[in-house]
Amino acid sequence: MIAVETTQLAELAALLKERVGLHIRPDSYPALKLAVAARLDLLRAATPGAVEYLALLGGPTGDEELRQLLPLVTVGKTSFFRDERQFQALDALLPGFLARASGGGQPLRVWSAGCATGEEPYSIAMCCAQRRLEPEQVELLATDVNPEAVGAAARGLYDARRVRDIPTSLLGEHFDREGDDWRVRTSLRRYLTAIRPHNLVSVGFPAPASGGWDVIFCRNVIIYFDTTTTRRVLEQFHHALAPGGWLFLGYSESLFRLFEGFDLSEVNGAFLYRKPEEGRVRLAAPKPRANVPSSPPAVRHVVFPPPAPRPPSTPPAPATPAGPPRPEAEAEEPLAPQEFLDGAVALFSEGRFGAARALLEHHLEHHGEGLAVRLTLANLYGVLRQYDRARQSYQAALAVEPLSAEAHLFYGIHLLSQADAEGGAQELSRALFLDPDLALAHYYLGRCREAQRDPQRARLAYRNTIEASKRLPGGKRQAFLGYYPDIPEDGAAFARAAEYALAAL
Ligand SMILES: C[S@@+](CC[C@H](N)C(=O)[O-])C[C@H]1O[C@@H](n2cnc3c(N)ncnc32)[C@H](O)[C@@H]1O
Repeated sequence: MIAVETTQLAELAALLKERVGLHIRPDSYPALKLAVAARLDLLRAATPGAVEYLALLGGPTGDEELRQLLPLVTVGKTSFFRDERQFQALDALLPGFLARASGGGQPLRVWSAGCATGEEPYSIAMCCAQRRLEPEQVELLATDVNPEAVGAAARGLYDARRVRDIPTSLLGEHFDREGDDWRVRTSLRRYLTAIRPHNLVSVGFPAPASGGWDVIFCRNVIIYFDTTTTRRVLEQFHHALAPGGWLFLGYSESLFRLFEGFDLSEVNGAFLYRKPEEGRVRLAAPKPRANVPSSPPAVRHVVFPPPAPRPPSTPPAPATPAGPPRPEAEAEEPLAPQEFLDGAVALFSEGRFGAARALLEHHLEHHGEGLAVRLTLANLYGVLRQYDRARQSYQAALAVEPLSAEAHLFYGIHLLSQADAEGGAQELSRALFLDPDLALAHYYLGRCREAQRDPQRARLAYRNTIEASKRLPGGKRQAFLGYYPDIPEDGAAFARAAEYALAAL
């Protein structure tokens, strides 16, 4: 392992904070060191040490290198049963697979791609065990690009902080205590057919012993890829899945402007992508963000029997909302998270701001953090002139997803509106680092530069707006997770505004 001084790690952490807003605490420096070592290993002799690596990050190709480093830095961001609703959805799918395997058919074939240190595949294994699938009835593959993470997953040893998300009964059933740590029992480990390194940005994708994967978990991984890479990876997932197979992505990883080969389904409150039974592939047009739909895709609501009751220490399932206004007062069923958001957006767009705010706040209280809700609420607070709350809400959104270009973009716009041009410029630069095509961010960066009395950089930002707008497919601006009624759909509006601004400068 290369020698990296603590001061160099602190410098790197400061650079990550400055450039992408990622906050790395000193207790995560060991993970940062591993990430640098992994990058240096890939770069081979060209960049021999940490000092040279820091120089590389500051150099002309620094942005590209930083994008490569980011996924490795975020390796620690995982937990057991991360996103409870998705595990409830998996739980709802398992009886069907059990019936198939028990009838002498295929075992359940699951791939956890980007498994980090193993919390995800072991959570899947615990779900299978709960549903009485035997290890022989499950083919579960866990892979990650980071060999250190793969090693940790294979060791299956977790400290007390990491296992706190596991319900007590499951912890007792599947883990043995080793000093202060907990080790995965062999009986659970047997569910994992293999744990090995695999780079998703490569040509070969693993296949199960026969047929395609029934389920692929690839959560919180593709957010770090650029559009072209993401499309390629999705195409390969599509190919690797069995007809009717399910793709579990992270909460903020919407495919709706990227790839059209999957159907979007809601299973017990979680949004999953499903390969159609007939195996049809409909790729979005080859140019980035071509065919951006103006409205979200249709969602199939897949109804399964209610999931088995969770063990006692499991975080509570989404509660039936009570109190604040519901968009469909006559509905008997609890609202799914997306329905809450849709209801709030409908109220917001009708100008019923108080009711929309109550619904969004209630949603956060009962369902926990979510990027789309946080951002919509932050924007709503801005409309209501509750600026402190707006700022707090943007910051909370960034705590949920520090690498969300959208969150940096709208936080930046908010700061500019509060006469904080410097803070705004910083957030907008971060947004543009994460997504250089965001014409909107270029435009508002120009406004910040004007406010900072820097006409030269303002001109550059406005020219970038015009260039980025030309790349917008169908002239429409990018789709966002949050709801911002003041932002025109017409992407060319920003190019025109940039042209006026340029003429006036
Ligand atoms: C934020 S973690 C997500 C872990 C887990 N899927 C979850 O949601 O809790 C992202 C993981 O993706 C992995 N990763 C990043 N780029 C990858 C690639 N090209 N191929 C495979 N894994 C990758 C990282 O090493 C890291 O372990």
